[in-house]
Amino acid sequence: MAMTGVLRPGHAQIRVLDLEEALHFYRNVLGLVETGKDATGRHYFKGWDERDHHSVIIRQADRAGIDFFGFRVLDVATLNQLEKDLNAYGVKTERIPAGELLETGERVRFQAPTGHFFELYAEKTHVGNGSGLVNPAPWNPKTAEHGIAPIRMDHCLLYGPNIQANKDLFTKVLGFRVVEYVMAPDGEHTAAFFMSCSHKAHDIAFVEHPEPGKLHHISYRLESWERVLRAADIIGMNKVPVDISPTRHGVTRGTTIYAWDPSGNRFETFCGSYEPYPDWEPIKWTFDEFGYGLDHTTGKLHESFLTIVS
Ligand SMILES: [Fe+2]
Repeated sequence: MAMTGVLRPGHAQIRVLDLEEALHFYRNVLGLVETGKDATGRHYFKGWDERDHHSVIIRQADRAGIDFFGFRVLDVATLNQLEKDLNAYGVKTERIPAGELLETGERVRFQAPTGHFFELYAEKTHVGNGSGLVNPAPWNPKTAEHGIAPIRMDHCLLYGPNIQANKDLFTKVLGFRVVEYVMAPDGEHTAAFFMSCSHKAHDIAFVEHPEPGKLHHISYRLESWERVLRAADIIGMNKVPVDISPTRHGVTRGTTIYAWDPSGNRFETFCGSYEPYPDWEPIKWTFDEFGYGLDHTTGKLHESFLTIVS
């Protein structure tokens, strides 16, 4: 499959309430690799196998949640074209200068109908995964065994109103496609869309919710179910508050744990899922079976999962 246009999730900027506590969590419990700190006090991290300079940025604030989520696009020409396409569709854009985020080129920012801010960018410094590009070792002992140690920041799930309008924007303008969706209890409206810009089951997902701009979770990819269980051990050792203990989703078939960072931002450690090609026909979940979509072991509609956001 030729991949053009929007390539992948690139970064999330997350608000934390206590920077020192958050730094300990993101460095040592989640085990991301810290790659920088800027003049405004933001700290930059990446998963050990990511090559770009960063994928997670944290900043201290008086409320938790997400400032923005960024996608890497193929090149500068693509960035310029996508900005024109957004404007033609009626979406206002703002240019954020190169360097405003460390080691990152110019970004095109816009607000989606759900109230979330998204960014597109074409350039971010490649720092590599520590193994080099010639005869690399499969993993780097300095980074791949420290804490939970995800491979990468993989996707996010966001809550807000007007998810149908977000779905239209992401599919018609940005080249995403719907891979799975969940019907609302009325059987007519859609309660959730899982969408991909790549070969993944989801690069982003939206759930209908009255409050705009809310974060449900940032997800971190692990290599195996055994690594998810190892993450569960580390979560327990560090008394990290857990939302859903290890299980499998029906939706996207991923294996998963949900827990919260010290500021109340939910995160997921997951692996598995499948790899849909562009001829994939979307999977539909009816609300009466959605418990199994969420937690395929118990079929339980976890109240906390459905209602707590940051
Ligand atoms: Fe997820």
